[in-house]
Amino acid sequence: MNKSNSDRKIAIYGGSFDPIHVGHVALAEAAVREIRLDKLIFMPAYISPFKKDLKSTNGKDRCGMIETVLPLNEAFCLSEYELKKGGEASYTIETLQYFDSLTDAELYFVLGFDSVIDLDKWYKGEEILRTYPLITGRRPDTDDSEGMRIIESFRKKYGANISVLEMEPVDAASSEIREMVKNGEPITGLVTEGVESYIVEHDLYKAKNASYCEDIEALERFMKDNLKDTRYRHSLGVEKMAVKLAGIYGANVDKAAFAGRYHDIAKCFDQEKMDDHIRKYSLDEGLIGNPALAHSKVGAAILEHEFGVTDNDILNAVKYHTTARKNMSLLEQITFVADVVEDNRTYPDLKYYQDLAASNIDQCTLEILEYTISDLTEKWRRIDKDTLQAYEYYNNKLFKS
Ligand SMILES: [Fe+2]
Ligand SMILES: [Fe+2]
Repeated sequence: MNKSNSDRKIAIYGGSFDPIHVGHVALAEAAVREIRLDKLIFMPAYISPFKKDLKSTNGKDRCGMIETVLPLNEAFCLSEYELKKGGEASYTIETLQYFDSLTDAELYFVLGFDSVIDLDKWYKGEEILRTYPLITGRRPDTDDSEGMRIIESFRKKYGANISVLEMEPVDAASSEIREMVKNGEPITGLVTEGVESYIVEHDLYKAKNASYCEDIEALERFMKDNLKDTRYRHSLGVEKMAVKLAGIYGANVDKAAFAGRYHDIAKCFDQEKMDDHIRKYSLDEGLIGNPALAHSKVGAAILEHEFGVTDNDILNAVKYHTTARKNMSLLEQITFVADVVEDNRTYPDLKYYQDLAASNIDQCTLEILEYTISDLTEKWRRIDKDTLQAYEYYNNKLFKS
């Protein structure tokens, strides 16, 4: 239906969005801005679970990720129309016709550059080209003369109305992002912050056997059985913060997640149980009677001896998360800092420390150490030698270099 005289414009943006990345968001924002769309509807495609070659995330999570970008532009919205149609083949032409019948607005279709040049091979692609104005984006820094030639031929042959928007170069592809998450590489900048958090919180795109211990399910059970609710939530908060910091500083995201999640597994042991473990694993006798300090050493010993964790960096991150030590590895430092600045903490300067953690982790480490030392001094409690050495080390690193 030609509604080019309508004063309202709506676009449907179709794709797998697995995950939605900054390139998708940039095209959507450019389309709203330049075509003056009143509404842009993200329409995640249904992907059959029987398509074995396509390992896709379920529709709920793809929608969940899209929902996190909706606040970025008031024209953005989400439709689950194709997902809900499910198993019935959902052809784009049918989706467009359905939405066209619902509205008086002029209906556009947004799609990636590679898709638009393939459009005449789609089911009733010719009809889409003849009927609906299309919006796509191209990067000015790539040679797409062949693609532009095809688009020109569509314009001539079908009278297609195709707007090609010039886009900032964005190096994001969903398949690469999935692979990067699987390999524990940071994806900061390739997806929005909200999508990144969603991926972490919902454990998406992980190879399910990627783990640093022999039996992850047993470790999960141990954690649930041994931690109180608030401590469990704190552990998940530390995992999330550690992953964020790993992304910022280029540490291994999976190791940061693991160390963050399990750093406090011995925290809720009563004194007797704690002391038994200190003896069992021949840890420093000086830890006996000091569960606040012992839980990190006991936790590391449990991970190593009861769950077969062999990665020394992870073990040290857990072992020193309470005291810190001089010259910590990046993973140790991230775990130490994330423990203090995770979102569930409630002290008044939390936001200050979170910003500092994200902008200067050495400075943040030093300020946490400073606070710890003055707090322990005030309470007349012994300060661990590792803490004092760490303070001296980071003070020198920051101010005497
Ligand atoms: Fe702890
Ligand atoms: Fe903790």
